[in-house]
Amino acid sequence: MALYNDKVMDNFLNPKNVGEIENPDGTGVYGSPVCGDMMQIQIKVENDVIKDAKFKTFGCGSAIASSSMATSMIIGKTIDEALEITNKQIVDELGGLPPVKIHCSVLADHAIKSAIYDYAQKNGKTYKGLEGFDPNADDDDDHHDIGEE
Ligand code: FES
Repeated sequence: MALYNDKVMDNFLNPKNVGEIENPDGTGVYGSPVCGDMMQIQIKVENDVIKDAKFKTFGCGSAIASSSMATSMIIGKTIDEALEITNKQIVDELGGLPPVKIHCSVLADHAIKSAIYDYAQKNGKTYKGLEGFDPNADDDDDHHDIGEE
């Protein structure tokens, strides 16, 4: 029985946006409190639009697939639009993940917000979607919203 669908496998085997950005405008690093895997996402921003995003993930296949999808989703979006993206949307775009792997998508969601937080801090900006966000918080609770729907 296949545990992962074709879209997840494709984003895992042929991940998009792998690597680092030279002189990034924001960098976010997040380690999962569940498994200890790490993810870094960097962004390039122009006029509040995310022009480029790259990731490095020291984690499982689902985390790699999630970061590939998540970076693809935020490129071309405004910061406000990117902040609205939830880990559930990342999972939906991937066509689903096994329940025990949902926390891997939280890694991508949190790393994006951390990168934007870094950009906001460096540029003295505030965004509604960052209110109350703590880049160092172990907010794995995020993934519970999936099961509740
Ligand atoms: S098991 Fe750690 S991110 Fe997937």
